[in-house]
Order: sequence, then C-alpha cells, then structure tokens
Amino acid sequence: MQELWGQIEAATSYIRRFWQGTPKVGLILGTGLGGLAEQIDQQMTIPYGDIPHFPVSTVQSHAGRLVCGTLRGTPIVAMEGRFHYYEGYSLQQVTFPVRVMKALGAETLLVTNAAGGINPQLDLADLVVIEDHINLLPDNPLRGVNDDRLGPRWPDLCAPYTKSLIDMTRATALELGIHLHKGVFVAVSGPNLETRAEYRMLKMMGADVVGMSTVPEVLVAVHSGMKVLGFSVVTDLCLPDHLEPVDIPKILANAATGGEKLAKLIPRVIEQLR
Ligand code: HPA
Repeated sequence: MQELWGQIEAATSYIRRFWQGTPKVGLILGTGLGGLAEQIDQQMTIPYGDIPHFPVSTVQSHAGRLVCGTLRGTPIVAMEGRFHYYEGYSLQQVTFPVRVMKALGAETLLVTNAAGGINPQLDLADLVVIEDHINLLPDNPLRGVNDDRLGPRWPDLCAPYTKSLIDMTRATALELGIHLHKGVFVAVSGPNLETRAEYRMLKMMGADVVGMSTVPEVLVAVHSGMKVLGFSVVTDLCLPDHLEPVDIPKILANAATGGEKLAKLIPRVIEQLR
C-alpha cells in the first residue's frame, strides 16, 4: 500500500511537469464516447503509456490518453479510454487513474459507460443517470491492506452517487430537452455478453442497465472522498425473450448516437461545477 502511494505520487508529479492546472472534475469517457474530448480546451494530452504506473489500454475504440484542460471554463482532466477488468488488469490497475485524478485535486468523478438496457422502458441510445449500483465483479479494488491516507477501511456506500449532482443534472437535461432516465447500474466482469437467463436474473435483482466497467472507479472515488456522477448510454436491449446476437458495430453506433446527447449535457453540467 505504501507502494500505491508512491506510484500515485510518481504519476502525479509526471503529469504536473506538463500541466499545472488543478482539475475540479475527473472525467472518464467510456466505449464509443470519446467525442466529448473534442470540446475540451486542451492544454495538454499525455498518452497513458508515458505516465508512470498507468496501464495501457488494449481496446481499439479507446484512444488511451489523458486530456488536461478546461471545459466551459472548468478545469478538468479527462480519460479518453479506460481500463477494464476483462482486459486482464487488476482492479487496482483499473482504478489507478482515479487515484491520480484525486491527487491532482479533482473533487468530482464524472464517469460514463456504454451499457445494455435491462429495463424494458429503455430504448437504444437512451441516456441514464446512475442513481445506485450492484457490484457483481469477482474482486474489489479496495481489497488488501488499507492506506488510511487514501481513505477509510470500510467506506460507506449508502449514497455513492451524489444526490445534489443527480438533481442538478436532471434539471439541466430538462432545460436542454434531453430525455434522461434514472437507474441502477450492475457491473459484470465480461468479456462475454450475458445469457438470456442472466439478463432475467439481473432484471429481478433490480438492475436497469448492465456494463463491464464503472463500479471499480466509483468505489475508489468514494473511498477517496470524491463526489460521483455517472451516466450510461444504452447500446443494446437486453430483453430475454427478444434477444438478438451481439453486433459490436451496432453497439458502437448506438454509443455514438447517445454520445451526441451526452456531449450536449455533460459540458453544461461541468460548467456548473466550476
Ligand atoms: N452486457 C454487459 N455489458 C455491456 C452490454 C451488455 O449487454 N452492453 C454494453 N456493455
């Protein structure tokens, strides 16, 4: 754990050599949602591979770089591409960038993902603001000796997603005429999509959307005392009785359509976090 502290310091001081801003927000752009990065007034971009102790992204649709700058006047640091458990990384590796965002000064984690829609009221390319989650990953990024400098041994999860941010986001979406659902996200390990029986189970559990990311990053953000706001874009419909074979190009196309709405909503949300 001493080791993790040192690694965070090494990564943070490397980034500080190129960018001296203090981000208010750490933004994670999920699969197919990287387009938002174009709106950032980019002061510095750093490939993950250059940052000490950062893992390197293996997913083709992920650019794999850290973008530092401002979005509508708010200083932010954005991950264009994230790390997934299914790629083979440990959850400590997956969440390392969140530790670094916090160490740079970010008070809020804003996380996005592409997800399957379990709630039958959801349609393709719909947006969901995450109000709670279910963790079905077989590991936890906080497992192991706790470094009290990073956060408490037993972080409370009675409200991991910050209520005031959800309320502000819903009001902003209403103003913009963007339809925004609210729902429960369930994290699975992947890389396979789920069976019909599993989708039935996830629905019974109370999940509205399912994806292979986000929960580890949120756990570390909560552990480190950050506020959290999360969004899912519905890329496929997980209706057990009408399930179609997975079509990755279609998933990416739906992510892009939903991503356009997110690209309108998120800057207006971030603007209010200055
Ligand atoms: N299941 C899990 N992860 C996903 C899905 C899904 O249906 N769609 C996008 N990410």
